[in-house]
Amino acid sequence: MMAMDLLRKAPVHPFVPEGRGDGKHVLILGAGLAGMAAAYELGKLGYRCTILEARDRAGGRCWSVRKGSTHNETGQPEQRASFDEGLYFNAGPSRIPHHHALTLHYCRELKVPIEVYNNINESAYYFSEGAAGATGNGPLTNRKVRIREIHNDLRGWISELLAKAIDQNKIDTGMTKEEGQKLLEYLRAEGGLDIDKLYKASARRGYMEPPGAGEKAGRIADPYRLSEIIASGLLDPDFYNVAEYTYELQMTLFQAVGGMDKIAEALQKQLAGLIHYRAEVQAIHNLAEGVKVDYKDRDGAQSIQADLCICTIPLPVLSNIDHNFASDASRAIDNIAYVSTGKIGLQFRRRFWEQDEQIYGGITHTNNQLTQIFYPSNDYLSGKGILVGYYNFNEKARMTGELSYSRRQELALEKGSLIHPQYRQEFETAFSVSWQKTRYNLGGWAIYSAEERQTLYRALLTPDKQVYFAGEHLTYLNAWMAGAFESARSVVAALHSRVTGQRFSYPAS
Ligand code: ALA
Repeated sequence: MMAMDLLRKAPVHPFVPEGRGDGKHVLILGAGLAGMAAAYELGKLGYRCTILEARDRAGGRCWSVRKGSTHNETGQPEQRASFDEGLYFNAGPSRIPHHHALTLHYCRELKVPIEVYNNINESAYYFSEGAAGATGNGPLTNRKVRIREIHNDLRGWISELLAKAIDQNKIDTGMTKEEGQKLLEYLRAEGGLDIDKLYKASARRGYMEPPGAGEKAGRIADPYRLSEIIASGLLDPDFYNVAEYTYELQMTLFQAVGGMDKIAEALQKQLAGLIHYRAEVQAIHNLAEGVKVDYKDRDGAQSIQADLCICTIPLPVLSNIDHNFASDASRAIDNIAYVSTGKIGLQFRRRFWEQDEQIYGGITHTNNQLTQIFYPSNDYLSGKGILVGYYNFNEKARMTGELSYSRRQELALEKGSLIHPQYRQEFETAFSVSWQKTRYNLGGWAIYSAEERQTLYRALLTPDKQVYFAGEHLTYLNAWMAGAFESARSVVAALHSRVTGQRFSYPAS
């Protein structure tokens, strides 16, 4: 019926507020995704928008580091990227879950090509660095082990244990004999158990010698014993299989072709002339009517007034800006915590992870300071490449963030060489970002306890007089671009309802 034009296609992500905001001036603080998406949607409704952006670029955390990119962190000199032309790494968001419909909607609407982001790769490694203690010094410590070996051995051993328990009526399952039989059959398939319900390894865990032509049948190694896996620290939280199971990280994931900043760039193109760069906000004051913002730009101290304001400034930064908000909002701004997190991009002259080790995308996990190594999900089989040499959080990120750029590079190379001995030979140049130290961010993303969701979080969901707050920090999609987009729409809906006297809410309940 759609083909015959008898039935209209449902809008992919409907957002069609009625009425116009013509004549109203909205001042937006921050040209990150939330600020730009808000300006883009408000522009469609006829509003006049001005965006103040502290940096000389748009996008905020949606930032791909390329040749010539510069970066400023507290207590460090300016960093400049010397990657080869055409190479990049995403210092901020790098993956889009398939169910983040609004992010994909904007990619579609703004014609940003996307490609599959390979989040899961059984060919990548676990590397448990040996540490003192009961666990962490087994036969698999200080050795890289393919993830597929550990996953399949664990699946096998756990299925065997369960099968034995069911077989011997060791657990009261409340199941009938037939149901128990079904479960046993499932466990045999799941764990790759033999006819006796025993795990004896299978090709799932890979080959010592791959199969080939003629007499080459392939040789499968014996499985690692469960006790070896445990003793080697591979059941510790660093190696939990969350990357595969978490709702957001389940395949399929996507990335923007050529760098995630293509999304920011596409929005920026829609906002020609509206963004004032290098405009550092100094003070935000609600007036009896309207709002006044003082800022500093290349020409010195400036001031601007508007009817309404959308403030997307990250809270740790906003906390240091003068304002006359109510005490609830002020307390929230000062107390909402942000995660410490950092990444380093390492350029290598050769994609040894592909050429030597058959790793195409995905993530190696380790319990040392690196936490993770990400292999690029693009330009496979090409010459040079950039790895994300670490992507860490919390204490590890705080520690790495305290290091100079060159010490971070050394850490990434030293620890990374334990996994990839090719590092030293092939390394060319690095660029690191510690988000909690980054000027105009001072944090990765907002985190809340359940209690804070009821108090601090709620305080910023409603406007403070003429000032609305927006950004991933005002959603349940923290750390995702989808948060910025959802928040922008939600605030545009609230603002537009106020201006036009409608009751229009987003998301529609
Ligand atoms: N959204 C962030 C990530 O993908 C946390 O790692």
